[in-house]
Amino acid sequence: MDKKKLIAGNWKMNGNLEANDALVRAVAAGMQQARCGVAVCVPAPYLAQVQMLRHGSSIELGAQDVSAQEQGAFTGEISAKMLREFGVRYAIVGHSERRQYHGETDALVADKAKAALAHGITPIVCVGETLAEREAGQTEEVVKRQMAAVIHVNGHCISEIVVAYEPVWAIGTGKTATPEQAQAVHQVLRAQLRAATEHADRVPILYGGSMNAANAASLLAQPDIDGGLIGGASLKAADFLQIIAAAR
Ligand code: 13P
Repeated sequence: MDKKKLIAGNWKMNGNLEANDALVRAVAAGMQQARCGVAVCVPAPYLAQVQMLRHGSSIELGAQDVSAQEQGAFTGEISAKMLREFGVRYAIVGHSERRQYHGETDALVADKAKAALAHGITPIVCVGETLAEREAGQTEEVVKRQMAAVIHVNGHCISEIVVAYEPVWAIGTGKTATPEQAQAVHQVLRAQLRAATEHADRVPILYGGSMNAANAASLLAQPDIDGGLIGGASLKAADFLQIIAAAR
C-alpha cells in the first residue's frame, strides 16, 4: 500500500521572527508540487506567527511538546487545547532531548500522546536508543519498551499516532543510520503496532537523525520508512525542500 509520506521539520529551540518569516515563505513557495505532507514543529511563541505565514500553503503546523494535563496549576506547561486554538495539527512527544534533559519517562510520554489525541492533535511519538544501548545490543528492547507504554495507555487510538524512530546517536551528529539499520528498527515497530491494531499499516513511521538532502532518498525508499523528522536541515529552506522533493 502506498501512502503519502510525511516530512516534518523540528526547529528545536531555533528561529526568530525575521528568520521564521523568510524560512516559511521560502518553503511554501518551493513546495508547491510536493507529493508528501509537510509540517513544521516550531517553538511555542512562534505558533501564531507561523500559523499566519503558512496560510494558503499546505504546510501543517506542529508543536514540539504538549502537557499531559488538561489545565490548571502547571506553570510553564502548554495544553493540547491551547495548541489546538492555534491550528496545531501535530505535537512531538517524547523527543530524546525531552527524555534526556527533562526526565520524561515512557509513562509521561504515553500520557502526553493521549492528551494530544483527546484534542484532535496527532502526536509524533519519538523512540530511539542511545549509542551505549545500541552497542549493548539493546536497540530492539529499548524501542519496544518505549512504544509499549504508548500502546498500553492509548489502546485502539494507537492507529491515530505518528511514530518517529530517532536513534539518539544520529541526532545532530551527522551520523545517519544506514537505510538498512533504520528499516530493521522500523520493521520491529511495525510488527509491534500490528499486534496492537489492525490499522498498523496506516501509522506513519518517520526516521529522524541527521537526515539531509543527500541521504533522504535512500532512507525514504525503505518499505517501512514513511517520512522524516528533520532537525538541522529543516532550518535551511533549500535543504528542507530537497528532502521534500525526495519524498514520493
Ligand atoms: P537532526 O536532523 O538535526 O539530526 O535532528 C533530528 C531530530 O532530533 C529531529 O527531531
